[in-house]
Formats: sequence, structure tokens, C-alpha cells
Amino acid sequence: MYEAVRSRRAVRGFTDRQVPREVLERVLSAAAWSPSGSNLQPWRIYVLTGGPLAELKQRAGKRVAAGDPWDEREYEMYPAALKSPYRERRAAFGQERYSALGITREDWEARQRAAAANWDCFGAPAALFCYIDRDMGRPQWADVGMYLQTVMLLLRAEGLHSCPQMAWSVYRKTVAELLSPPDELILFCGMSIGFEDATVSHRRTGRAPLAETVTFVDGS
Ligand SMILES: Cc1cc2nc3c(=O)[nH]c(=O)nc-3n(C[C@H](O)[C@H](O)[C@H](O)COP(=O)(O)O)c2cc1C
Repeated sequence: MYEAVRSRRAVRGFTDRQVPREVLERVLSAAAWSPSGSNLQPWRIYVLTGGPLAELKQRAGKRVAAGDPWDEREYEMYPAALKSPYRERRAAFGQERYSALGITREDWEARQRAAAANWDCFGAPAALFCYIDRDMGRPQWADVGMYLQTVMLLLRAEGLHSCPQMAWSVYRKTVAELLSPPDELILFCGMSIGFEDATVSHRRTGRAPLAETVTFVDGS
């Protein structure tokens, strides 16, 4: 379990080795045992592979190339003004991510190109799209987060890697063209799934010291 947690990271380069359908079914069947308040199980998952995924990547790629504006937001990815310490953590993440690719802070074009890889699922041959009913509140969104983490850890147990992607929400209408989800659903995120391409360079992200995020109240 510790190994799965330690080795999971947002992988942004996959080989074209296919992910067998039975592996995905095994992972998603097990992940269904994730907890949720009153057992609502508020996640709605679509799995895309093969031709339909290729079609989605192509349609999204066209929008990126055309400089299409993003679809209207159904939820805000981040607070408009990110305060400390989140602002600094986000800046540090951006710095780590792009310096690993040899991209400087000033090179906006290269940054845009790297970001555009999101809509190619970083080359992954499989992806899931996670929806939630728009009636659901914050506790149910948290349930969905737990579910997605369970999926990602189980993928590690299968030798697979993943990258959760809110980026897909900005092209949610293109995703909907392929999936035809019912109107009552909101696309929270996509998740690329596959085998890691070890030739793609990356830097391991860091974490805040425990004392910044955890308080023990034990009377000592
Ligand atoms: C809900 C969620 C959405 C994310 N969206 C994206 C995304 O759109 N594109 C991307 O490259 N990474 C995305 N990430 C990955 C985060 O950047 C990554 O988890 C974080 O920087 C920590 O790094 P690690 O997962 O490699 O440990 C997302 C992560 C989460 C949990």
C-alpha cells in the first residue's frame, strides 16, 4: 500500500502499449468499494480507448491548434485570488514542471505546447472521464476525489500509471460530443491511463512539511 502511494505520481508521458479491458474492469470494480457519505457513490465514469479516444484527441487537438476559447466553466478550478501558502506552492509546481522539460519561465510558447499535451492524454491509450451530478454538494465532490485516488492506487498495483486532468473540463463540450452524458452531469476531470514512457523527463513534486498541514492535539 505504501509502495502504491509512493510510486503514484502524475505521469505526463505514456507509451502506446494498450491497456487490456479486463484490467480496467478489475480496477474499476475494486475502486467501487471506495467510501462515500450514505453510500451515494456519486461518481459517474466513462472509459475511452481505441477509436473513440483517438477521435476525442483529434477534435480537442483541432480546438487547441485553432486557439479556440475554453468552454464556459461549470466549476472554478481554483479560487480567483490564490492566497499564501497555496500561491507559492502553485508557483513552485509550475517551476518544477517546466524546468524538468527545459522550458524557461519566459518561454510561453513552449509552456503552451507542454500544456497542450493534456489534450493528447500525454500519449496514453486509455482515459477515463469523471462526472458528478450537478445537484451534488462539496461532500460528494470529496467522495469523488477519494474514488479517483483509489483508482490511481489500484492502477499502480497493475503496473499502470495515470494523470488526473482537470484540463479536460475546459473542453467539456468536445468530451460530451463523444460521450453524450446526461445533462444533469458535470465533467469534473479526465484521467490518462497507461504505461509510463520512461524517456519523458520529469521532476518529482515535493510536499509541504508535515507540520504545515497536520496538527496533532494530544496534550503533550
Ligand atoms: C483533481 C486534479 C486535477 C489535475 N489536473 C491536472 C491537469 O489538468 N493536467 C496535469 O498535467 N496535471 C493535473 N493534475 C496533477 C497535479 O498537477 C499533480 O497531482 C500535483 O502537481 C502533484 O504531483 P504528483 O501527482 O506527481 O505527486 C491534477 C491533479 C488533480 C488531483
